[in-house]
Amino acid sequence: MKVVVMHASPNRDGLTAAAAAAAAGAIRAAGPEVEEVRLNDLDLQHCQACNNGWGTCRESQRCCQDDAFPALHRRVVAADALVLVTPVYFGEPSESMKAFMDRLRRCEAPLGSRPGGLAGKPMLIVAAAGGSGNGAVHCLRMMERWMEHVGAKKHDFIGITRFIRAYRLPQIAEAARAMVAESAAGAG
Ligand SMILES: Cc1cc2nc3c(=O)[nH]c(=O)nc-3n(C[C@H](O)[C@H](O)[C@H](O)COP(=O)(O)O)c2cc1C
Repeated sequence: MKVVVMHASPNRDGLTAAAAAAAAGAIRAAGPEVEEVRLNDLDLQHCQACNNGWGTCRESQRCCQDDAFPALHRRVVAADALVLVTPVYFGEPSESMKAFMDRLRRCEAPLGSRPGGLAGKPMLIVAAAGGSGNGAVHCLRMMERWMEHVGAKKHDFIGITRFIRAYRLPQIAEAARAMVAESAAGAG
């Protein structure tokens, strides 16, 4: 079993990184392989909305841009479950997470009777906010809506700030453990 843990902060030592490490550590300890992906390390362009709205994504579930996205798309489709961790910027996911989400949902739109590769895949979403926590719920709501677009199985949505870090990090680990246990039980 393989789980992709994706995070999307420019800060290598911040709350986003700590939340991703909590999830990844718990999953590894439970047995599955973890692939950690730091979106800010990748050459990930934004969607060009080709041809007045839809490009090759509509006809072939592929993006025509030749950057890190096609390989990333294959990696998430090949995974058994996903953890997405984003900082909260302006009440929304960070720019790198949004670029990834925007392009992925287009390539995951069903093609006739063929569903996208993320359909039914369990996902855990974490939003790491600043001290105010303003917009954390809005950020999670945006990501929930996106999960509906890609047909993912919603496992949990967790908001974290530095003030509640001490009890939230163990909850993130527990949620990640529960997701892989449920996924393994479903597959067995
Ligand atoms: C451009 C920008 C916008 C932000 N907007 C919000 C916000 O709307 N609500 C909030 O609670 N924190 C906001 N923050 C604070 C970050 O969410 C917070 O510092 C978070 O921990 C960043 O993740 P990091 O620790 O991985 O850097 C913002 C930070 C930046 C840089």
